[in-house]
Amino acid sequence: MPSLRDDIESRLHSLKSLHTQPAVIAKITQMLQNPATNAEELGMAIRADQVLASRVLKLVNSAFYGFPGRIGSISHAVILLGFSTVKNIVLTASVLELFAVRGGGKFNAHEVWKHSLACGVAAQCLARAVKYEGQEECFVAGLLHDIGKVIMFQIVPNEFNNVIECADKTKTLFYDSECKLLGISHQQIGGMLIEQWRLPTKILDAVANHHTPHGGSLLTAVVHCADIFARALGYGNGGDNKMPKVSDSAWESLGLDGVNLEKLLGSIGKEWEKAEVYLR
Ligand SMILES: [Fe+2]
Ligand SMILES: [Fe+2]
Repeated sequence: MPSLRDDIESRLHSLKSLHTQPAVIAKITQMLQNPATNAEELGMAIRADQVLASRVLKLVNSAFYGFPGRIGSISHAVILLGFSTVKNIVLTASVLELFAVRGGGKFNAHEVWKHSLACGVAAQCLARAVKYEGQEECFVAGLLHDIGKVIMFQIVPNEFNNVIECADKTKTLFYDSECKLLGISHQQIGGMLIEQWRLPTKILDAVANHHTPHGGSLLTAVVHCADIFARALGYGNGGDNKMPKVSDSAWESLGLDGVNLEKLLGSIGKEWEKAEVYLR
């Protein structure tokens, strides 16, 4: 008899949103991973998808990036913001679609979205504070860290509700409840999605291990801690009210002992206000 886990996996493979990544985004993701790609080529590829193009321009022109209303084209954006920032705005714009689900039952789509966004913002601020070199991918990885919950809600809504109920009743983490009840977790499901979408492996690792960062990459450690900072600041809600324990190894690998936490949380708060554009 197939287990619930097998069942979830097979439903995951037939889920539409896994296949909705349009050819243009596949092409752009591929281009973004090729160091030889230039602004002109990127601009051309983005313009082929009008919805994506307008979304990217809306984001680059938001207060979040500091040039509100002044950027007229993708190539102009690359000049002002730099290639890696634009690259991440494009990735962000292309994944926003995934969050556009209607909630229902115990799934509060808006709260999960807020939590995800807060984790992205926190990851970026944290990366800056610890001078992590790959700051660019932190926002995207944070934004996507709980995407598995959105997918889980879509494929097994009843089981999803049971997980939330269990987490609530037993005052445990969503993660612990799902492992116990379903034998599969949102970090695994999120990892499968990211693999299908062929996003960078670093982002895949961070999403697939944000609750188990031990021995993982620095990006995984950043997302692990950012998730907890976002919870501590009370921005959004990912589906439980329990605060996870910060992994000692993640904390140490980032050198967080040497960081002024009050200042860091303050900077997350400031960036959070600017990130409002994503909430609309
Ligand atoms: Fe999570
Ligand atoms: Fe989370």
